[in-house]
Amino acid sequence: MSRKLLIEHADVPGITSFETYRKHGGYASVEKALKTMSPEDVVEEVKKSGLRGRGGAGFPTGMKWSFLAKPEGVERHLVCNADESEPGTFKDRYLMEKLPHLLIEGMITSSYALGARRSYIYIRGEFMYVLRILEKAIAEAYANGMLGKNILGSGYDLDLVVTPGGGAYICGEETALLESLEGKRGNPRMKPPFPAVKGLWGNPTVVNNVESIAAVVPIVNEGGEAYAKIGIERSTGTKLISASGNLVRPGVYEIELGLSVEEFIYGDNYCRGIANGKKLKACIPGGSSVPILPHYLVTKTAAGTDRLMTYESLADGGFASGSMLGSGGFIVFDEDQCIVRNTWNFARFYAHESCGQCSPCREGTGWMEKVLYRLEHGTGTLEDITLLEEINKKIEGNTICPLGDAAAWPVAAAIRHFRDEFEWHVKSPQEAQTRNYGLIQAPLEA
Ligand SMILES: Cc1cc2nc3c(=O)[nH]c(=O)nc-3n(C[C@H](O)[C@H](O)[C@H](O)COP(=O)(O)O)c2cc1C
Repeated sequence: MSRKLLIEHADVPGITSFETYRKHGGYASVEKALKTMSPEDVVEEVKKSGLRGRGGAGFPTGMKWSFLAKPEGVERHLVCNADESEPGTFKDRYLMEKLPHLLIEGMITSSYALGARRSYIYIRGEFMYVLRILEKAIAEAYANGMLGKNILGSGYDLDLVVTPGGGAYICGEETALLESLEGKRGNPRMKPPFPAVKGLWGNPTVVNNVESIAAVVPIVNEGGEAYAKIGIERSTGTKLISASGNLVRPGVYEIELGLSVEEFIYGDNYCRGIANGKKLKACIPGGSSVPILPHYLVTKTAAGTDRLMTYESLADGGFASGSMLGSGGFIVFDEDQCIVRNTWNFARFYAHESCGQCSPCREGTGWMEKVLYRLEHGTGTLEDITLLEEINKKIEGNTICPLGDAAAWPVAAAIRHFRDEFEWHVKSPQEAQTRNYGLIQAPLEA
């Protein structure tokens, strides 16, 4: 069973209250950092930990922090990205709902490290009830001297503001988020300048995911080196995985990075296999934006080695035979699921959520949705499959923000691995309306 660094106390009755959280060791990292460490020491520990951003891109958190510009007399900010709108990803909501004080503790310790005196949590607008939980917890933290002036007599002041987003997926992109936080339409900004130089209100800003900020708590408590010993390669520590789809036991799991995918799907401590005795057809391991893997590439790489829950192993084989850990939205499909229908469903989401600023994304996501609709509803042609590939190439890499890539990659991967199923929808449209294609064969079985 994996060690739990983040959600060990998630089910303790009353843990959302300051008092109970404190009784279970809460706010120790704030005491340690503010009383015994300099801000630079905290940054150093985070660097040593090897923590990589849990929002999707996996950028090293300590390195991101060290890029923060520190001009004299200019305010700096830490902004927590709690917009969590990626289909298949629901771990930040779980963490905030169950352990609001863990996020607040992480915000205080991280803000201290960055020299921020006014920090923000930007939370997805639909999570209104979680916003209320956070507001209550923040008020308790102020009342108990963990926020506000002269925290724990250290001379460090911090104000923490939680604010709801407008309910748009694009506002999870960090620069769109900053625009939205400033009260504007959430359109991504051109980079450079990066937020570390010119972020919120033009001030140097670090944007981090909820889970990244929460992970700073055990890193400070136990030390960066101890954290780095958990996990393997450049995938250190633990990771929250949102497991959904046709699993016996879907849910949010905290795993040690390096666990085998086989164990995660079938192990008694995790998802306990595919529901209803069905066979595994495919898996999207990192949220709707990452490439889908057919069953024969889920637990093994193309080279035949065990696939592990790490940034490196899930990407093994590149886009030809790999995928990405992404935000840890692990979606499992059984043999009864239709890949064309699912691909169309995701495409519909991206077409709806494109902010419309860049033509390749605005037009391309719309066309992909239309073409996939045709294929799914029995009016597509074989040329449509090639057309989808063409549209993909026009979007990928040609937009201001990665939403375009996020829309293009899953479609490209679905066609790459499941072309036969797409073609079957064209050649046997009547049949495709009444039954599912079933499992595809692995190349060696063919
Ligand atoms: C369209 C889009 C949506 C995103 N949504 C989120 C999100 O909901 N939460 C998140 O943490 N990162 C999201 N990201 C990634 C952020 O831009 C950013 O990389 C992340 O917040 C950085 O935090 P980290 O370094 O701690 O991972 C999104 C990116 C894109 C392109």
